[in-house]
Amino acid sequence: MDDTYRAETIAITSGRPAPSADGALNPVISLNSTFHVGGPVGYGRYGNETWEALEVAIGSLEGGKTLVFSSGMAAISAVFSLLPVGSVVTASHEGYSGTMTLLKSLNDSGRIEVRFVDVAKTEDVLAALPGTSLLWLESPTNPCLHVADLPILIAAAKQCGSGVAVDNTFATPLVQKPLSLGADIVMHSVSKYLAGHSDLIMGSISTNDEALFSRISDARKLNGAIAGPFEAWLALRGLRTFPLRFERAQSNALELAKRLAAHQGIAQVYYPGLESDANHLRAKSFMKGFGAVLSFTVLGGSHEADRVCAASKLITNATSLGGVESLWERRRRWTLESASVPESLIRLSVGCENIEDLWSDIQQSLQHA
Ligand SMILES: Cc1ncc(COP(=O)(O)O)c(C=O)c1O
Repeated sequence: MDDTYRAETIAITSGRPAPSADGALNPVISLNSTFHVGGPVGYGRYGNETWEALEVAIGSLEGGKTLVFSSGMAAISAVFSLLPVGSVVTASHEGYSGTMTLLKSLNDSGRIEVRFVDVAKTEDVLAALPGTSLLWLESPTNPCLHVADLPILIAAAKQCGSGVAVDNTFATPLVQKPLSLGADIVMHSVSKYLAGHSDLIMGSISTNDEALFSRISDARKLNGAIAGPFEAWLALRGLRTFPLRFERAQSNALELAKRLAAHQGIAQVYYPGLESDANHLRAKSFMKGFGAVLSFTVLGGSHEADRVCAASKLITNATSLGGVESLWERRRRWTLESASVPESLIRLSVGCENIEDLWSDIQQSLQHA
């Protein structure tokens, strides 16, 4: 593959078998638990050519060597499993509820010490860095869309001798490439934008550090959190259209954020693409877009927000994000969601539908608040 290709081309060309007469364009779905002796793989938990094709493609987009896992949480758990007992992790106090819950339980059990900070407050993160082994950043955060100043924080963490891992699920490599800013690890819930069709669960880790790659690979072998070959094939099929889907969803999201901000039934819109958003200038300074998830609070409380979510006819009232179809939900319906997230906050994962159809559905749903 030509390594000067841009993301749109990489998504379509990478992870394909080498050309040969009558050779296949797409990787095979390798359904094998074992292999003949003498090769580098040997057993189905150690490697699989369908995962490898997907890993090449994600790695080419992120600019690092990649390993896929059975879920985003499996990928996150593999990273934390590498830390010696008692290590200090500095992490956002607001982010994906699964990550937050895992960090709290690792902290409470004494496995690691977590310094929870507001990642949008750069000074607070910098103050927490001395003695930190790993700075874990999710940016923009789920579901409040806070933006961490990645260039400054990554550089400062490296200077303090800390490793840096970035959950890039919301931004995607089309918006920011943390490895190129000096991060050690980029993590994805592949279940979201990269696969893009709400039909599989998968995670990935990418890194430029060979030694770290081999430790994470060993962790995957031993923890056994491997992806299924069929899911890997499906994710790669989805990845071919990721830039197209993401660009459409992102432009829909910006337009909906603007219209929602002007709607009288809305208390606040959370989207870094809005000029009025507290994160806007920072996001503009280093991100190439603002993503396709936005959140908003409706006037009233949880009941009003529940009624809005239940009233939609086009947007599906369901959790998750990053698929071609728009989804929304009231985040606090989950008991694991952080108490700092407002009760009436609705997270909207904007899909690729027609913008006017989406807006009509939002307008009629808001009438039920
Ligand atoms: C930002 C973020 N990171 C990680 C995860 C976990 O990924 P998975 O559900 O694939 O395990 C999610 C899931 O919603 C997420 O939104």
